[in-house]
Amino acid sequence: MTSIASPMPSPVGPSAASSVPASLAPVVLTPPALTPPSSPDSPWWRSAVIYQIYPRSFADANGDGIGDIAGITSRLEYLRDLGVDAIWITPWYRSPMDDHGYDVADFRAIDPLFGTLGDAEALIADAHSLGLRVLLDIVPNHVSDEHLWFRAALTAAHGSAERDRFIFRSGKGATGELPPNNWQSMFGGGAWTRVDGPDGTPGEWYLHLFAPGQPDLNWNNPEVRDEYDDILRFWFDRGVDGFRIDVAHGMIKHPDMPDLDITNIGTGNGVSANMDPAVLGRAGRNDHPHWNQPGIHEIYRRWRAVADSFEPPRIFVAEAWVDQLEWLADYLRPDELHSAFNFDFLVSPWRAGYLRETIENSIAALGAVEAVPTWVLANHDVIRQVTRYGRPQPHGRARRHVGDDPTPLDLVLGTRRARAAALLMLALPGGAYVYEGEELGLWEVEDIPDDLRQDPTFAQSGGTNPGRDGCRVPIPWTADGSSFGFGPDGGTRPWLPQPPTFAGVSVAVETGDPESMLELYRSALHLRTHHPDLGDGPMAWDESHPDVLSFTRGDSFRCVVNISPAAVPLAAYQDILLASAPADDGLLAPDTAIWLSI
Ligand code: GLC
Ligand code: CA
Repeated sequence: MTSIASPMPSPVGPSAASSVPASLAPVVLTPPALTPPSSPDSPWWRSAVIYQIYPRSFADANGDGIGDIAGITSRLEYLRDLGVDAIWITPWYRSPMDDHGYDVADFRAIDPLFGTLGDAEALIADAHSLGLRVLLDIVPNHVSDEHLWFRAALTAAHGSAERDRFIFRSGKGATGELPPNNWQSMFGGGAWTRVDGPDGTPGEWYLHLFAPGQPDLNWNNPEVRDEYDDILRFWFDRGVDGFRIDVAHGMIKHPDMPDLDITNIGTGNGVSANMDPAVLGRAGRNDHPHWNQPGIHEIYRRWRAVADSFEPPRIFVAEAWVDQLEWLADYLRPDELHSAFNFDFLVSPWRAGYLRETIENSIAALGAVEAVPTWVLANHDVIRQVTRYGRPQPHGRARRHVGDDPTPLDLVLGTRRARAAALLMLALPGGAYVYEGEELGLWEVEDIPDDLRQDPTFAQSGGTNPGRDGCRVPIPWTADGSSFGFGPDGGTRPWLPQPPTFAGVSVAVETGDPESMLELYRSALHLRTHHPDLGDGPMAWDESHPDVLSFTRGDSFRCVVNISPAAVPLAAYQDILLASAPADDGLLAPDTAIWLSI
């Protein structure tokens, strides 16, 4: 391949292209395809860009301060115009909202806060008519303590069929006063809660890897497996195109329930992802007693058969925070799940070496099972990328285990890097996810007053972990209005406070501004939809400076990302398709990405 982006001076592109500041470079916008491209060789999900909606924070139609289904429906055209292929809606089912919907009381009912089953059906129909597919979120590891099954378990006896749907155990110690083992809740504190027996005296303990209001199910119980098959069918019958699987690596526990060796925790939801490069190096052990147990795969083979029995076949994406890409690939074998979030990419520091290694290893590991990577930079659990990248690198951890990050924050720099990261992500082979507000360049809101924090993590960690509220602040749609258009003007205040600076990153302000994050995402998504070399397919690295990522897709597309501290010259190209910052005189500035036709 041509040597490009080398530190030596090299010829620049044609003067017509290089005389235009790249962020203003002409981009031909064609109307979005009504049906995302799909063929037997490359099914739609192998290339899809899927937009994550966290309903509480997206749009509030009835003005009670909490986003709802009618709000989502009213914004579907915005999403169609943005250029995404599908939406993933995080849990909207009936729930006491201890974990904002990830504590499900009834999978077949919509929580009244969000609307009705009729609203959900209407949303699915409207989305489909706009050419958007719809994924929901299934939560198999646990249910709410208000689920009928758990209520029945509480009033039933030790050893009963009702208790066997969950993980009840006798405690240790003379009177059972100590928890059955040392497992910890992901939100802080122990993972066991003791309940009173039917006679009112202290009885067994139940397992909850998350909040006490989220009892873990016993997946060795056939009734549990049957119930989830039925839930999948219930929503597939309503036209839902697939599911994101919550805590997809957690349902099977080691049969002996041994203590966790806390001196050497290799794997875990939120344990490995704290951005410590030493941890990113991966301990390489796979004997964690409640994550990634081998029995999990049998469940997914069964789910795959359910999804394949529908026409067209439905799909899954796994949330599986496992330590090794080879383990992730196991979930994506041809008879298991279709895709899994690439969290290694998400947690990678803004450093060319880490990114290159993650990209290479992901493609290789997943390619071995004929799967494609599913790139992701953000979701409702992690620190927004503008803030992550605005901290010194390698650093800027993705999750918040030990309180606020005291290191200096430069949001201008973080935004610049987030723009470049978006072009990198959307040029890579495979699918990608965009988390609501990412396309506006929202940052993590880190100064929410303690008394307004909502995430159970904050209370459960005794206030040592600020929790995930900072990435869940309601979306600003307009520069004015009491909630920046999130809800009707004068409605109830949003469930989390929006900073006044959100006015400047609202949809209305960014629309039509060629330098805005929103227009960058729109341009990139439209180019991606129509460019034959993007999405699924091969990529080849070009020779480049070690701190520059440069790769070619197909015959005519190249992406170059400069992560070095100095501008680098671009080798010959035909046209600039899009750039994250101006690329004048054939020079690519630091923290800039560019899409070229070659
Ligand atoms: C997943 C969700 C997270 C939730 C947890 C428990 O990690 O993404 O938001 O708190 O599972 O269901
Ligand atoms: Ca509402």
